[in-house]
Amino acid sequence: MNHLKAIYPGSFDPLTNGHLDLIERGSKIFGELVVAILRNPEKDPLFSIDERIVMLKSTTSRFANVRVDIFDGLLVDYVSRQGAQVVLRGIRAISDYEYELQMALMNRKLDSRIETVFMMPADTYSYLSSRLVKEVFNLGGSVRGLVPEVVEEKLRQKASASAGAK
Ligand code: PNS
Repeated sequence: MNHLKAIYPGSFDPLTNGHLDLIERGSKIFGELVVAILRNPEKDPLFSIDERIVMLKSTTSRFANVRVDIFDGLLVDYVSRQGAQVVLRGIRAISDYEYELQMALMNRKLDSRIETVFMMPADTYSYLSSRLVKEVFNLGGSVRGLVPEVVEEKLRQKASASAGAK
């Protein structure tokens, strides 16, 4: 059994099948994996933190070593409080690399004990992002197969709630 504990941080607004693919891969490599949702007061998210927790918990409950949590402040401080050694991030394409490299090196500068590990989601999800899911859905396109069913359902509920409010 691998005793490494990893944190998979992100906004998850909303969770996509690409995130889920990475969570599954991470759960096979690490002894414990915490999916950590950033509480970011500067962003105006589509889904509240509570909604995102519910969606993440229901889709990851089948992985015995995966837990869902919230964090704020510096990621490295959270990782250290959790007693974790690794930050897990996904790289879909070369375009992700620059931003991810900057973050990984900044995190290393802040706390050199923490390693960032990059994994690639399945290539079927290489074009997928939360931003594009929201855009496609808002413009009436289908997001079937791109997000878990619970997320698709929540997107529909949001759309009908906002249509009802008009
Ligand atoms: O899903 P995202 O939005 O790409 O995730 C970005 C995230 C949450 C990993 C990043 O913004 C983060 O770690 N924020 C916490 C604040 C912090 O530690 N900033 C310095 C990191 S270089």
